[in-house]
Amino acid sequence: MSDVLYVRGGRPLNGSVRVHGAKNSALPILAAALLAPGTSVIRNCPPLSDVEASLAILRHLGCSVRQEGDAVTVDASSPVRCDVPDALMREMRSSVIFLGAILGRMGEAELSYPGGCELGPRPIDLHRKAIQALGGTIQDAGGHLRCSGRLVGREIVLGRPSVGATENAMLAAVAAAGTTVLCNAAREPEIVDLQTFLRSMGASVRGAGSSVVVIEGGRPLHGGEHTVMGDRIVACTYLAAAAAAGGDMTVTGVDPRHLSPVTSVLAEAGCAVRSEEDRVRLTALAPLSGSRPIHTAPYPGFPTDAQPPLMAALAKGTGTTLFVENIFESRYRHVDELVRMGADIRVEGRVAVVCGVPGLHGAAVEASDLRGGAALVVAALGARGESRIGGLRHLDRGYWRLEQALRDLGAAVERTGTRA
Ligand code: EPZ
Repeated sequence: MSDVLYVRGGRPLNGSVRVHGAKNSALPILAAALLAPGTSVIRNCPPLSDVEASLAILRHLGCSVRQEGDAVTVDASSPVRCDVPDALMREMRSSVIFLGAILGRMGEAELSYPGGCELGPRPIDLHRKAIQALGGTIQDAGGHLRCSGRLVGREIVLGRPSVGATENAMLAAVAAAGTTVLCNAAREPEIVDLQTFLRSMGASVRGAGSSVVVIEGGRPLHGGEHTVMGDRIVACTYLAAAAAAGGDMTVTGVDPRHLSPVTSVLAEAGCAVRSEEDRVRLTALAPLSGSRPIHTAPYPGFPTDAQPPLMAALAKGTGTTLFVENIFESRYRHVDELVRMGADIRVEGRVAVVCGVPGLHGAAVEASDLRGGAALVVAALGARGESRIGGLRHLDRGYWRLEQALRDLGAAVERTGTRA
């Protein structure tokens, strides 16, 4: 029996919520811990299922791992394996981020080809080209990638600013002898967080956050220490929930600059948004109006991960908003479920037209991916009546203690069944 979330909507959300550490920063940082023959301490690392999968990979490789709440200690003094088990690759396709770190530390790496996921095909050609540019040889052996080689620093130009390929290249380059210049690098804040952790290990990395990252590789490394940045997508999700349900909410533990592409849309739709050093306060007292067209794009553009929850908030209101999803091929799977709740949304390829309706009603809906599931929670909080949300295993990948946080903000939310 898998878990179900029951939400009785229509109650405003008031109060303050501290955002947990960023999943998409913790994952590459945990992979990076493998690079140093020492012990690393990583704080604000939420025990999400994707983090648990990464810890399982580190243990499989021979690291000893200790977890106390949201603090993780990784001792990578003596890794003994260089493969990522198929089951873990299937469980979390972003395990491909271990490729650069395993190859950099062990001189060889083996992992099964990460398949596509709910968001569509998830190719890794840019990862492969980056590793090959550094001197790694990659063989395709029946769905398995076998990589080996002594890595040497090079100039690498990514075909597109892929977050994962940027991270894989950085991790491999830290172990490569000499200087690597990574051009057209992704500029996401999580890349900057990874640079900070790598520097704490003694690595020489600069330029993260810009399109050119320079790594002086081959330096001796030691265990690092880092507190993971707040999760900007979780913050955007909470703010979207306040916009949908109404109320006065402050999210803390996050850098407001990381949220600005999203908070500007919520402000345009009629919310009052006030940013301070490590928090954003949103007040929504009237129905939302629409906003200018939302085109998802690499940072600092509008983040694709915030598209589903923002769509859910704008589905109820008086305006019409055009979404263009430029990053993933199939990131509108939450639309059918929102329509079951009374939303008026039409999808044509990468374009979704959201016509605000006066109100949504509760329904039995099913999450089919992580942020699509978040969209259903946002919609249910602003809907009249009760919703039943299934597929919570998707939500558990990226949201820690979601139902408790929402209850503390005044929502009527209950999770039943045994945790899957
Ligand atoms: C990261 O995925 C995030 N995941 C995603 O978050 C996020 O949506 C994405 O970046 C974009 O911001 C993690 O950090 C663990 P990409 P990643 O490589 O690295 C294409 C969430 O909900 N591409 O920047 O896989 C790819 O198909 C998740 O938390 C290639 O063509 O994203 C996609 O269309 C979902 N070849 C685009 O680039 C490649 O070799 C962006 O992908 C790699 C990617």
